[in-house]
Formats: sequence, C-alpha cells, structure tokens
Amino acid sequence: MNVTDKTKPETRDRFLLNPYTDWTAAQGIPVYEGFGVDMLACETQPWDFTEANGALIHLNGRGDYVSVFLHDLPPGGKTRPMGHCFEEIFYVLEGHGSTRVTLTDGTEHTFEWGPKALFSVPLNTPYQLFNGSGREVAKLSSTTNLPMMLKLFHNDAFVFDNPFRFTEREGLSEFYQGEGVLTPRTPGRHTWETNFIADLEQFELREWEARGKGCSNMMIIMADGTMHAHASEMPVGTYKKGHRHGPDFHVFCVRGEGYSVFWYEGEEEENYERFDWKHGWVFAPPEQMFHLHFNKGKEPCRYAATALGSLRYPFSDVKEAGFRGNDVSFKDGGAQLEYQDQPFRCHLDFLIELEKVGVKSEMGDYIDEAPYIKAIAAMKKDGTLSVPA
Ligand SMILES: [Fe+2]
Repeated sequence: MNVTDKTKPETRDRFLLNPYTDWTAAQGIPVYEGFGVDMLACETQPWDFTEANGALIHLNGRGDYVSVFLHDLPPGGKTRPMGHCFEEIFYVLEGHGSTRVTLTDGTEHTFEWGPKALFSVPLNTPYQLFNGSGREVAKLSSTTNLPMMLKLFHNDAFVFDNPFRFTEREGLSEFYQGEGVLTPRTPGRHTWETNFIADLEQFELREWEARGKGCSNMMIIMADGTMHAHASEMPVGTYKKGHRHGPDFHVFCVRGEGYSVFWYEGEEEENYERFDWKHGWVFAPPEQMFHLHFNKGKEPCRYAATALGSLRYPFSDVKEAGFRGNDVSFKDGGAQLEYQDQPFRCHLDFLIELEKVGVKSEMGDYIDEAPYIKAIAAMKKDGTLSVPA
C-alpha cells in the first residue's frame, strides 16, 4: 500500500493539524499576541483575503474557536465583495464608511458607520466594506469564529466559497438601519436584536445592579448568530463585581478609561495582573482567571464584549449555564465574587487610583471603606504611597 498521498501539495505528516494556524501562516500579515492589544497602535499590511490592509489579533484568552481581525481601509479604500461561512462581529475603531449587504432576494442594504458602531453580516451573505473618507483611514476590528469553522471543516472552499445561503438569518430590513427589537427579560438577560448599532456609546442599556454598583447592560443578538455581544457600563467612582468564566470573551472599551485586574485562584496578590484600557484596546480574560473591571476616570466607563455562544444560541452547555447564572455568587454555586469576598487589595488599589484623578468613590454603600482609608493613610505615613495632590 502506498501510504504517501502524492496528490497532496505537502508531504508532511498529517498528524495534529490545525487548519486555522495553517491559514494564519498563509495570510502574510502581522499577528499580535498577548493579554490584550492596543489595536489603534497595530501595524497592518496588505491582505489578499480582504484586498484591504489587515492584522490578526490572537489573545491569550481567545480560546479554541475565536479570533480577532483588524481591518484597515486606506482613504477611499474598500474590501473586495466577500461572503463566508464564518460569523463576524465588527466594531469600528476609527474612521467613517459604509457596508453594503446583498440579501438572497437581491435586496441591497447599505448602512453608514463611524467610530463605535457595531455590526454583523448574516452568515455567508455577500457584503463589502467601504471607507467613506478620501482623507482618513478606517479601522475596524471583527471577532470571528473562523478558527472553529476551519478546524471543523478543514476545507477552504466550504468556508470561503460556499453557495449555500442562510436566508433565515437575514432578519428585518430595520436591522440594517440601526433599529432593533428589544426583548425585556430579567436584568442581565434583556436582549436587543439587530444587525447594526450605529453608536455603542449612545446605545441604551438597562440596569443590572446584581453585577455591580450602578451597573447597566444589554445583551445583543446579531444576524441571528451564534456569536455573542453585550455592552456594559460602570458609573464614575464604581467597579463591577469580580467573576471568572471560560475563555473567548473579547472586551472592547467604548467609553471612558478603566483597568482590569486578573488572578488565578490561590495566587499571591503581588502576582495579580493589571491591564489598563480605553477605546481601541481589546483584551480577553483567560480561562477561569478571576477578573474585576474598574472605572478609573471622570466619566462613565462602557465596554462591549464578544464571544462564541449567544443568548439565543449559547453553543455549549458551559456558556448556557454561564448566561443563566451570570450574577450568582460563588458561595451559592455561581462564578461571581461579591464585593465583601474579593481580595483586600482590589478595593485598596481602586481608592488609590481614584485619589490620583480626584474622583470620589461611590462604593461606600457596598463596602465599609474605613479599613481601606486607614491603610492608605498608613501607607502615606510610612512613605510606601505618594499620591499627587
Ligand atoms: Fe468576564
């Protein structure tokens, strides 16, 4: 028996293959890795796949199924007309432009976007991105499930050149005009269904106090997809309760300035990771790493998150359980760390941050701040802390 398939272009051992990694290597564009990335500082290169410029963002916490593309359209530029069997949620970082989508019945929808717009094109529906400016670049990120699709089918033609159309996902024409359908549920489970949100900064959220002081949120269903999105906000002088979950939630800052702290259970406090962010940054909490998001600025802090597994189609039992119990305390079998159970350092560092920018903590009705104020006074006295006036 001839065990070497001579018809294949490659003769390497067909063992432990990763078709997404192979695809990545063939793109010839920069790949950025790490805990998080400032996408506005990333360099891009011409990318045959889109016929614009691009880079790939592969964060430590991306998991097995999700990756992020960075699209960079030069002034007056556009992508080639595309359509593909992977889902993609776009978030506009800078610039202005439009997206043209062609539905199965030939109807064309064109919607115009600017910074902080969020949109998704139904699976394998033809679309094209245009930079509407002759002077400025347009940069967009997109969270994709291409790793999952290539690993599953390992056939480029199926994923990138597939005639099948998912007509049932196309949705209402209003979904391409920035309108949507609100389905009220309980806090943290209200959903907004659409294909396009013109400005996430102005997007209306609903109260979700169980996730943190003054916290608000909206879960988002886009293009009837399995990819998830949500938006959350923390008022000035507050932060969200900590929690942990599986990988692949990618967090995009929309408004304000914040930071997040990460640690694994049992880790020494001096080894906690801190990550500061503002618009343009994306980060992904790694598998089961505790994390807290803090507002460290003078305006409300808002972010969007994307992942695989939506409120409509959670995809995995773990994601479904996470969405069902996303504000259940650790001691009740959930994954949320109540304020009184978090490490002392979390609130201490937060108060020090606020003092630096002259913002008053609004957390006093959840946490007895006296021990922290005392600790800060002692640190100032012994010279281990100096906070500018
Ligand atoms: Fe999280």
